Amino acid sequence: MIIALDGPAAAGKGTLARRLASKFNLATLDTGGLYRATGLRALESGGNPADPAVAEAAAKAVRADDMANPALREERVGAAASIVAAIPEVRAALLAFQRDFAHHPPAGFDGAVLDGRDIGTVVCPDADVKLYVTASAEARATRRFKELQEKGVESIYSRVLQDIEQRDARDMAREAAPLKPADDALELDTTALDADAAFQTAADLIARKLSRQPC
Ligand code: DC
Repeated sequence: MIIALDGPAAAGKGTLARRLASKFNLATLDTGGLYRATGLRALESGGNPADPAVAEAAAKAVRADDMANPALREERVGAAASIVAAIPEVRAALLAFQRDFAHHPPAGFDGAVLDGRDIGTVVCPDADVKLYVTASAEARATRRFKELQEKGVESIYSRVLQDIEQRDARDMAREAAPLKPADDALELDTTALDADAAFQTAADLIARKLSRQPC
């Protein structure tokens, strides 16, 4: 089984992916991590992440081990990720890894759940279930702000909101695989839902969708 989870930054896709993975025995791939690893490699090379040649070389150098690097969560890396993600050569270089993971998850799993921006539209258009997870920019900024406070990172709510709005605009406006729901995606708006309610709603939507599929 392949589950595609798409949606804007800080909509709760990561938490949802982990909980769905544990319920349905699926391997998880946070595809944003691949773009972050590309952005980090581009920064570390000393080149400009907006330069297609620098970004493509960085994408081709990404290894599975990169995904465990704590530096991937840094703000500067998130910003670089959003820049390299708009470059078609980067997206092409990362596509095979994502498709291979979806169709050949590690041994012991019954499938995979991939979260990102273009999983249902480009990476796995044949996914068994596609969820488009969203929430208002304010709700997402409030969650991200609380997370940062809990980690002891000093931040300003208005800056967090501005960052989310800028990232949405970049992810939705780019020409290469823009963020948008697949035609056959189920939409899940988590603005008024906590993590438990979002998980329950998603699990119900998936169970209903799978029960309608022919065996
Ligand atoms: O979900 P995230 O914040 O870790 O993603 C980092 C960046 O990568 C974000 O700007 C969008 C981009 N991305 C993408 O273009 N396609 C994906 N499948 C996943 C992430």
